[in-house]
Amino acid sequence: MKTFNIQYSTLNAQQNIRPRQHWMLNVSLILAIALFTGCSKSNEATAPNSSPAQKQFVIGMSQCNLGEPWRVQMNADIAAAAAKHPELKVIFKDAQNDTLQQRAQVEEFASAKVDVLIISPKEAQPLTEPVAHAMAAGIPVIVLDRRLLGTNYTCFIGADNKKIGKAAGQWIVKALQGKGNVVELMGLQTSTPGQDRHSGFLEGIAGSGLQVIFRADMQWLEPNARQEMESALARFDKIDCVFAHNDDGAHGAYLAAKAAGREKQMKFVGIDALPQEGVAYVRQGILDATFQYPTGGAEAIDTALKILHGEPVPTEIVLGTRLFDKDNVSQGGVELK
Ligand code: FRU
Repeated sequence: MKTFNIQYSTLNAQQNIRPRQHWMLNVSLILAIALFTGCSKSNEATAPNSSPAQKQFVIGMSQCNLGEPWRVQMNADIAAAAAKHPELKVIFKDAQNDTLQQRAQVEEFASAKVDVLIISPKEAQPLTEPVAHAMAAGIPVIVLDRRLLGTNYTCFIGADNKKIGKAAGQWIVKALQGKGNVVELMGLQTSTPGQDRHSGFLEGIAGSGLQVIFRADMQWLEPNARQEMESALARFDKIDCVFAHNDDGAHGAYLAAKAAGREKQMKFVGIDALPQEGVAYVRQGILDATFQYPTGGAEAIDTALKILHGEPVPTEIVLGTRLFDKDNVSQGGVELK
């Protein structure tokens, strides 16, 4: 339509048209426009390749906190994957490491009737009930990284934390040649990765001469890890290795040891292996090893799309992991079998 208008005014300005001609031109233009729009309407209705207006879907994403780089990366991975699908809109909420706030967010998403809910829960037990309510209200739920109690969700996506903990234990046994004093700085013990990394680690060191001389729950937080490590350093003269359940914790422990002038006496092992964090620490010689813990953000969007299109999804998607240490970091680490 715009094209016609433009052509008409150009004609009018450029040529000296008399009133009768002008009137006839107007009538034929109106006819032409009516024909054109009529045609295009029926074309739309019958064209075999034309698709109807695409349905929009809303995904609610409840992130337990954004204080750690790994969680910022998870949201970025979700946003990047969703951006490839214009029919998806993702609403992010940050629970700021507060379980009650996260419970309320899940309830808000459920009453807003989002099409899919994604949650990375802070703690297992308190988030189980609101997710069950969302499921009962017919909202599909994807649980990312940390588990709930039981299996009342549509799909769980995450890496095998027990396997990672065990591999970390075995790496340390080998690096210390079977004996030595170890500090274990654990992730939040009311969250499943913290529990699984701990039990896996115990399996990995079982039967060796390693002794865990100090153990604390640093709740995934670097400042807590640093403080706990200061206590360990004050109590023990001989520490051979620190195993922290994430790279933030390992870095906090390293800073405490460095402040005491003892960082060269021990090894530091973490988990997460973000390129700009854990992997960079290994390259710089701050950490001795880290194990990749993928965020699952892209897989969550893939799964959400399948659910939205009525396709079946597995109840569990287990993500792989890689080991980075000084021997393999320059080749991009090695896959853990
Ligand atoms: C971030 C984080 C990661 C860790 C994951 C476990 O909050 O602590 O460092 O790998 O959560 O759920």
